[in-house]
Amino acid sequence: MSRIFSGIQPSGELHIGNYLGAVKNWVQLQETHAGALFCVVDYHAITGAYDPAVLRARRWGMAKSLLAAGIDPAKAVLFMQSDVPEHTELSWIFTTLTPLGDLERQTQFKDKSLKVESIPAGLLMYPVLQSADILLYRADTVPVGEDQIQHLELARDTARKWNAKFGQEYFPEPKPLLTPTRRIMGLDGQSKMSKSLGNTIGLMESDDEIWAKLRPAMTDPQRVRKTDAGRPEVCNIFQLHKAFSGVEAVAHVDGQCRTAGWGCMDCKKVLAESMVQELTPIRRRAEALDAEPQRVLDALADGAATARGLARDTMREVRGYMGLDPVVIPSAPAV
Ligand code: AMP
Ligand code: TRP
Repeated sequence: MSRIFSGIQPSGELHIGNYLGAVKNWVQLQETHAGALFCVVDYHAITGAYDPAVLRARRWGMAKSLLAAGIDPAKAVLFMQSDVPEHTELSWIFTTLTPLGDLERQTQFKDKSLKVESIPAGLLMYPVLQSADILLYRADTVPVGEDQIQHLELARDTARKWNAKFGQEYFPEPKPLLTPTRRIMGLDGQSKMSKSLGNTIGLMESDDEIWAKLRPAMTDPQRVRKTDAGRPEVCNIFQLHKAFSGVEAVAHVDGQCRTAGWGCMDCKKVLAESMVQELTPIRRRAEALDAEPQRVLDALADGAATARGLARDTMREVRGYMGLDPVVIPSAPAV
């Protein structure tokens, strides 16, 4: 059976973009793939300037949000990346196999490096650490959003190179597993929904907050008056309907939009109801975790113990194949 691994940065709370693009899928996959690994990648979160106190709070917030979203520690392995030092160890090994040019070509590196005066080498190495995250568990299936496809290509190259160099079919070539909602746009309808762009709806937001954000959100720009026929295929609100509303409701919305039966406000109201229905149980679970925070710590401690065991086994084998196993007295005269 395939082994699942995925990671998420501790950016505080989840939003509907990373929920629909990745985490909702994780919650479903843990049912069919026992021992799937889900990692809060805190070492990935320190490549830019940051405040340790804020990072601490966000690591907690992300772990809690993942549990609230439905990750079940009895089925999946939820852990903090920095609790398993082998991630950085394997990452170093992989840097020795990765061409500099491949790293400089990564879109995310190009985008992020433009925004800083002095580029930390860690920003360049970011996808190497990501390959190590995945291959440390010899995972072959990585449920992520569309933006991670290029990083996974690099992980496959790295697996192939290591296997060729050390003569083993040890590492699988990990493939992305995309959801139907592989890229959720922000409420501005212009760019990817992302915390750094401030165009998100948080998974824990109240009904009122959700409505306050949906009300002014971008729809079909050509639909100026209520009597104008709309084009669902270009409307971001319709995309959100597809993610949150049932099949029949989506068909109904489609018809009402095209015939100008409904205005955008009518459509948004129905969307708000669908969202509240899906998000309310998540909010309730988050409240339960606030009342019993020890459950978050216990989940992370169990997850780290399991992950560490797997990681140690991999590193023992990897070191062995690479001539880095425990030193022994040579049987032949030393050369
Ligand atoms: P991040 O929150 O950026 O660490 O991303 C965590 C996961 O969510 C990754 O698999 C991303 O590909 C996915 N993701 C983040 N934002 C979006 C979005 N707007 N639409 C779809 N997937 C997303
Ligand atoms: N780079 C991913 C993101 O920004 C996060 C991540 C780090 C990841 N390591 C991973 C995702 C390993 C999947 C597998 O979303």
